[in-house]
Amino acid sequence: MLRTVTATRYVTPLREGGSLPAIVEADDLGTYVLKFRGAGQGRKALVAELVAGELARRLGLLVPEVVLAKLAPELGRSEPDPEIQDLLKRSTGVNLALDYLPGSLGFDPLVEPPGSELASCIVWFDALVTNVDRTPRNTNLLVWHGRLWLIDHGASLYFHHNWPSREGAALEAAGRRPFAAARDHVLLPFADSIREADAALAPCLTPEALRAVVDLIPIEWLDDEPGFADAGEVRAAYVAYLKSRLREPRDWVGALEEDAR
Ligand SMILES: Nc1ncnc2c1ncn2[C@@H]1O[C@H](COP(=O)(O)OP(=O)(O)O)[C@@H](O)[C@H]1O
Ligand SMILES: [Mg+2]
Repeated sequence: MLRTVTATRYVTPLREGGSLPAIVEADDLGTYVLKFRGAGQGRKALVAELVAGELARRLGLLVPEVVLAKLAPELGRSEPDPEIQDLLKRSTGVNLALDYLPGSLGFDPLVEPPGSELASCIVWFDALVTNVDRTPRNTNLLVWHGRLWLIDHGASLYFHHNWPSREGAALEAAGRRPFAAARDHVLLPFADSIREADAALAPCLTPEALRAVVDLIPIEWLDDEPGFADAGEVRAAYVAYLKSRLREPRDWVGALEEDAR
């Protein structure tokens, strides 16, 4: 289960990407980075953030705690910026938030080159979930207390913007497809043990583990998905896609090794 909090104060926008996440305070006195359901890619970005983040955590990678964050309509009333007020209004209800890591710094591979094992694990993970957002220009990695933390998975699982056929050859092809963005990955130059990463990580993501992660998605983010009868069917489609990605032989792992060479 993910914890649920209620946002009590909008503190400040984080104007790095286009989605205008914000630092907020919540009723548990915690500080969070809130990702708005009403932003650009809508609720699918939140699904991707949740699913990819929790998969990474299962693989032993560090991800800030993910919580569900309720937004009351009153929160935006005192907000002077009309763009932000609008975003808050459109996001009333359940949003996603990540525990804010105070004092964290953006990761720079030239300052602190990562070890080969960790780099390979992160590259393998991003290839699994097709996360195109870990480039040298925009690493989406934070250094906090001397360790590397993964953030910003909203652009992963991009198949869900255009669902492949949920069975048969199309699903199989999607499962095997090489991760085209591997060459732009900030950690690719350090990832020289992809095979070892694959052997260590793939067994962690059993069908039960996939199911448990997908079951964490709040129903509000799945209801009324075009082409699906109900939220349960959408959940099943996420699990089927991830299973097909993990099914052997994993052609995308071979392709990744080539890219890393
Ligand atoms: N949990 C966090 N703790 C501290 N800073 C964060 C956290 N999440 C995001 N940030 C900061 O906010 C910026 C924007 O957040 P991010 O999740 O990358 O969204 P986007 O790139 O879509 O705007 C990050 O580059 C980082 O500097
Ligand atoms: Mg980002």
